[in-house]
Amino acid sequence: MERTFVMIKPDAVQRGLVGEIIKRFEQKGLKIVGLKMIQMDRDLAEQLYDIHKGKPFFEPLIQYITSAPVVTLVLEGENAVNIVRKIIGATNAAEANPGTIRGDFALTIGRNVVHASDAPERAQYELSLFFSEKDLCNWKRIDQDWLYE
Ligand code: RTP
Ligand code: MG
Repeated sequence: MERTFVMIKPDAVQRGLVGEIIKRFEQKGLKIVGLKMIQMDRDLAEQLYDIHKGKPFFEPLIQYITSAPVVTLVLEGENAVNIVRKIIGATNAAEANPGTIRGDFALTIGRNVVHASDAPERAQYELSLFFSEKDLCNWKRIDQDWLYE
């Protein structure tokens, strides 16, 4: 089993899309093992997006992500990192395929409603910024034996 980190961004929270976005991960079969709403401060936002420091979009990105509350999640499942990246769609929402979260709910790269880790090592780093091990629940979905062979 693999864990990944997801953040429902401020635009999605403001637009009332939290339930719709979480629903997509749940109905895919991924298991929620951590869930928390917070308003990020600059320091935390810079740690989450450390790899983008110095890029032209860094400052607007930090402003956007700290402007209002976000909902953070840890999801668990086989190949969770790759599967979740597929579900959220391309970074530039203008090019994201219909059926993906960004393809269905966003128009632009700068307001693309959701973040997800892009590699297992990043997932571990990012989820540890928001959750300690005791914040995460180890439990079994009642349909687990029907989701995996
Ligand atoms: P995220 O980290 O938020 O899941 O997005 P991502 O992996 O698909 O894309 P990434 O390259 O990590 O970029 C992080 C976020 O920065 C904003 N961005 N703006 N204007 C631009 O060229 C530009 N490029 C990136 C987006 O909000 C993107 O999600
Ligand atoms: Mg990224």
